Amino acid sequence: MEKVVVLTGAGISAESGINTFRDANGLWEGHDIMEVASPIGWDNNPELVLDFYNKRRQQLLTVAPNKGHEALVTLEEQFDVTIITQNVDDLHERAGSRNIIHLHGELLKVRSQFDENLVLDWKKDLNLGDLCEHKSQLRPHIVWFGEMVPMMDTAITITEQADILIIVGTSMQVYPAAGLLQYTKPQIPVYFVDPNPAIAPSRHLTILSEKATVGVPKVVEQLINS
Ligand code: APR
Repeated sequence: MEKVVVLTGAGISAESGINTFRDANGLWEGHDIMEVASPIGWDNNPELVLDFYNKRRQQLLTVAPNKGHEALVTLEEQFDVTIITQNVDDLHERAGSRNIIHLHGELLKVRSQFDENLVLDWKKDLNLGDLCEHKSQLRPHIVWFGEMVPMMDTAITITEQADILIIVGTSMQVYPAAGLLQYTKPQIPVYFVDPNPAIAPSRHLTILSEKATVGVPKVVEQLINS
């Protein structure tokens, strides 16, 4: 079975009702990104950070996967598909995709402040004073700016094995995720679905300047019928 790797960003969840990051004048739900998504922001004001992620988690419970997420599930009928997502939502899981790597963490999980391997499901709002079994404060299981990306090595290995790469809804501005493109075998077909594609055209690249709900089903149909 041919291996398809799909790199997704905030754009694939936009039509489900989750805002992207860089379309909104650098602010994220009214906050400077460093205030709510960095170790310094966490040290300065953990209550604000916890409240911010509690609200995002509540929002996630009210949205649903869209036709972009769903089309990627269909692809599994004929291909060995791995999704590498920069998104912290669970919309790929809820759509039914089976192999998903979350590069930047998961909104519905929490972890110990001092042990990144101690990860728990997040069942209620998270507050100051919520401790893990080692008595350290629980924090969102999110990779913040300035932190290591623990899943990156796995993502590189998977990308190196890809026969086809599909990129959906990412501004390709945040590293190391944006650098994954460099790890593919030479000359594999690459599809890029984004209404505002931030990538230079080249011979093996097919750009679909469309929203995910339109462009992803088209790519999937083309691959299934090829
Ligand atoms: N369908 C597809 N793409 C879309 C849609 C849509 N309906 N709407 C917007 N987009 C595209 C935009 O054109 C843009 O290229 O989605 C992209 C969103 O870019 P960003 O907001 O920068 O999101 P992303 O690339 O996922 O950000 C990467 O940055 O803030 C951090 O950790 C956070 O994972 C995030 C990372």
